[in-house]
Amino acid sequence: MTTTEEMRPIVIFDTTLRDGEQSPGCSMNLGEKLEVAQALIDLGVDVIEAGFPIASPGDFEAVAEIATSMRGSTICGLARCNDADIDRAWEALKHAESARIHVFLATSAIHREFKLKMSQEEIVARAVAGVKRAVGYCDNVEFSPEDAARTEHDFLCEVVEAAIEAGATTVNIPDTVGYATPAQMGETIAVLRQRVPNIDKAVISVHCHNDLGLAVANSLAAVENGAGQIECTINGLGERAGNCSLEEVVMALRTRSDAYGCCTQVNTERLVPTSRLISTITGMRVQRNKAIVGRNAFAHEAGIHQDGMLKERTTYEIMRPEDVGFTKTDLVLGKHSGRAALADRAKQLGYRLTGEQLQIVFDEFKTLADKKKEIYDGDIVALIAKQLRDADDEEWSLVSFETTSGSGCKPRVKLTLRHGERELTEELSEGDGPIDAAFLATEKITGLTLSCKDYQVRSATLGHDAQGEVTLQVEHQGKTFRGRGVSTDTVEATVMAILNAVNRIASTTSESR
Ligand code: KIV
Ligand code: ZN
Repeated sequence: MTTTEEMRPIVIFDTTLRDGEQSPGCSMNLGEKLEVAQALIDLGVDVIEAGFPIASPGDFEAVAEIATSMRGSTICGLARCNDADIDRAWEALKHAESARIHVFLATSAIHREFKLKMSQEEIVARAVAGVKRAVGYCDNVEFSPEDAARTEHDFLCEVVEAAIEAGATTVNIPDTVGYATPAQMGETIAVLRQRVPNIDKAVISVHCHNDLGLAVANSLAAVENGAGQIECTINGLGERAGNCSLEEVVMALRTRSDAYGCCTQVNTERLVPTSRLISTITGMRVQRNKAIVGRNAFAHEAGIHQDGMLKERTTYEIMRPEDVGFTKTDLVLGKHSGRAALADRAKQLGYRLTGEQLQIVFDEFKTLADKKKEIYDGDIVALIAKQLRDADDEEWSLVSFETTSGSGCKPRVKLTLRHGERELTEELSEGDGPIDAAFLATEKITGLTLSCKDYQVRSATLGHDAQGEVTLQVEHQGKTFRGRGVSTDTVEATVMAILNAVNRIASTTSESR
């Protein structure tokens, strides 16, 4: 049995804000990114990859703001192996308490031949130049040979050795396309440890994508063979099928410390609140049976299991729900609850509200408590999420709407929106239902063409007086924009979600009138 003192510490590198944010429909605005970064710090991750500063002014601003204002985790920015990217990354990171520049360059034959059209020698030279430029700015530099899992071992060893020689302090081995198997990933790490003479001068990291559903297993295999850092995301967000799920890999290391002999600094009781926060912000729902954070992850339905649980919990439970942040009950507040109780619950749920934000949420909480007797966690999350969204500059806001619909008659909608000082109203009787009519009225007022690609409604909490939570995706000029709205009236929630998407479009273009 391994004691805590003998456990090998594993660095948890979270890339929810970079690789996670790259997944379709998951882009976040500045306020949302700051909220996620704070939650990741509270969770105790060692490194936060906050973005890819050269990718867009928005990415740069987010990395710079997180680096300047947040303390407690190392803040990392991604860069390709070229001067402009690396200079821009440092410009964003320079005020961080602890900064890391992460440079990457593809190394596999397929990327060399078809994407980069570069020889092996050119790749080694470019990697070395990139690492050296980054080292000129900061002593914490990570190098990733992109598509490492499909790179010939001889060449991978050569590039990794050269990157370490140039000053890389972490070498990250990405399975960029999620192709590796656990045995292969483990072997690659073992080969690097055996054949790269200066490997002990850097931490070996692993970055696995989940295309075959093997990202967690591959990351654990890498750890078994000596990797000291895992790159992962909350809820496994990320390109295509996503990345290694942080909550799964951390709980596997903790629950099976007897097998892995490793530990992390993650405050596991923050896993569920962080997962919920990110799901609310990105609109990416967590499947009910998702390991660790899914709603059913600890639900025992079969009578035989329930019987066993009553006799001895460990008959059917390998982790305690409270260790990952599930609370026993989520019925918390009512009409007579005060501001302190709301602030405390918000904190438990993973939000840090300023005094001003708390006051606004509290006022809305009181209004909601007049409409429905019992306020659940889901209601509080919905109110806070709305507040965070409203806090950003919103070009368009809802003044009022009225709808009528029924069987056998045309829906009618009257919608009034505010745009700057002006109020614009559209009244129409078109469409195949009130939702369609709301879309048409919004298009007419804003002058934007919105093609609805996804529309989902679910209740934020229990009961038929529950708030309806609408998440939708609209396509505008080939790009996908997400919207979310919550109200006790589902049509109003839809209008709010449409406006949320419209405001995201407006913040990236100057097109709406
Ligand atoms: O998947 C990948 O290869 C990446 C690199 C930038 C590390 O995300
Ligand atoms: Zn990746």
